[in-house]
Amino acid sequence: MKGIVLAGGTGSRLYPITKGISKHLIPIYDKPMIYYPLSVLMLAGIKEILIISNPEFIDIYKNIFYDGSQLGMDIKYQVQDEPRGLADAFIVGDDFINNEPTALVLGDNVFYGQGFGPVLEEAASLNNGAVIFGYYVKNPEDFGIVEFDENRNVVSLEEKPKNPKSHYAIPGLYFYDKHVTEIAKNLKPSERGELEITDLNKEYLKMGKLRVELLGRGFAWLDTGTADGLASASEFVRIIQKRQGLFIACLEEIAYDKGFIKKDQLLKLAQEHKGTEYGKYLNNLVEE
Ligand code: TTP
Repeated sequence: MKGIVLAGGTGSRLYPITKGISKHLIPIYDKPMIYYPLSVLMLAGIKEILIISNPEFIDIYKNIFYDGSQLGMDIKYQVQDEPRGLADAFIVGDDFINNEPTALVLGDNVFYGQGFGPVLEEAASLNNGAVIFGYYVKNPEDFGIVEFDENRNVVSLEEKPKNPKSHYAIPGLYFYDKHVTEIAKNLKPSERGELEITDLNKEYLKMGKLRVELLGRGFAWLDTGTADGLASASEFVRIIQKRQGLFIACLEEIAYDKGFIKKDQLLKLAQEHKGTEYGKYLNNLVEE
C-alpha cells in the first residue's frame, strides 16, 4: 500500500494566518500540522509516501522531509497547481500510485485514539474495494456524510447535505484498491468545480465495494480548519502530552517503533533536535 498526504488547497478560512504560507506547516502545539496526518499513514505501516502541495510550497516540504530515508521511508513530491478537489490527488499522483492500492490522508486532519494502529493496519491490508471511516458529529451538514444499515453496509453518501440522513461524517482518510486512479479520471467536476471524493466513494459503493469503519466516541478527530479549531487542537495535544509524557505524531518515534529505522538512526535524529524537549524525548526513547 502506498500513501498520499494532500497538503494543497487555499487555507482561506485561516486567513490571515495562512496568507502566503501553507496551512499544513502551521503548528499544532509543538509540531507542524502535516506531522499528524503523515503519522497516520506511518502507523498504517506505509513507507512509500507522496506529498502533494501547491507550486509555491512544495520545496518547503522537500526541505523538511528530504527523500524520507532519514525516517526509513521513501517520500516523493508532486505539485497540484489548482485546488481541483480531493479526488484530484489520484490523478496528480498517477505515476506515483502506479496501479497499486493507495491510502489518502488530508494534510489538515488530526486523529487520536486508542486502538487506531490495528484499525489502520487492517485497512492498509486491503486489496479489493475501499475503506472509509465514519465519525459521529454534531453538525453533519458541514461534511461528507455516510448513512449505513444495521449491518454497517453503506446505504448512501452525501456531500454537505442540507438535510443529513445521519450524523456520521467521513474523515479525511481513505483506503483504495489499485483501480482508484482509473475511477478518479472518469469523475466529472461537481457544481463547485471540484473532483469530489464523495463521488469517488459513490463509484465504489455502486460496485458494492465500499466498507465503512466507525470511529467510536472515545476517539478524537479534530478540526483544524478555523482559528478556533486550531487552538483547540493545540490544547488537546498539549494536555495529552503533558499528562502522559508521550508525544502524539512524533514521526521519529513511530519510524523507530515500526522498525523503519534502528537505534543509531534515532540517536542521529535526536541530535538534530539537540537542546529541545523534542530532542530530549527522542533520546529517552533509546534509553528506554
Ligand atoms: P479544504 O477543507 O477545502 O481546505 P482548504 O485548505 O482549501 O481551506 P479553506 O476551507 O480554509 O479554504 O480541504 C481539505 C484539505 O485538503 C486541506 O488540507 C487542503 C487539501 N486540499 C488540497 O490539497 N487540494 C484540493 O484540491 C483541495 C480541495 C483541498
